[in-house]
Amino acid sequence: MKSIQIAAGSVYGAALDVAAALKRLLTEAGFDCTLHERSALNVVRVPESLLLVVSSTTGSGDVPDSLQPLLAGLINEPPMLVGYPFAVVALGDSSYGDTYCGGGRQLQAALLDIAATEIAPMLTIDAMMTSEPVDEAQQWLQSNLAAFRRAAGE
Ligand SMILES: Cc1cc2nc3c(=O)[nH]c(=O)nc-3n(C[C@H](O)[C@H](O)[C@H](O)COP(=O)(O)O)c2cc1C
Repeated sequence: MKSIQIAAGSVYGAALDVAAALKRLLTEAGFDCTLHERSALNVVRVPESLLLVVSSTTGSGDVPDSLQPLLAGLINEPPMLVGYPFAVVALGDSSYGDTYCGGGRQLQAALLDIAATEIAPMLTIDAMMTSEPVDEAQQWLQSNLAAFRRAAGE
């Protein structure tokens, strides 16, 4: 398994920049990556693949529109994803308090509810603390690349 589906959800572009940067790194590392700018359950129906969610947060702890169909599908028509490997990069702003990184957290919770396997600790990127979300995400990926390789059966 060397393929990775990257499901990105962004309102103003930061999460998309992060997703594109992670795609570049993962491709250099030998993975076959597809970046989805709109995602529904199709992104978890690719055989022999891993799912990487990169989601910003909008509204009051909500996922961006382009990830709504995926979140709704996971909750309303839960697919059989026991053990399915995934990781989440969540972008948010801690000044929003309780809804901090709610978009990524909702997708993480929905995947854990159906017993998918989180292969790396979720990265939360706080817009209050950094103006370089791409750098944070790249460092996170470098620290967790071994987990991606293990999940891919390498
Ligand atoms: C209208 C609006 C609502 C937001 N709501 C939240 C929120 O509830 N929780 C949170 O952590 N961040 C919230 N944010 C902050 C964004 O998630 C954060 O700035 C993120 O980096 C934006 O990424 P993007 O450029 O990919 O959309 C909100 C931002 C806007 C503009």
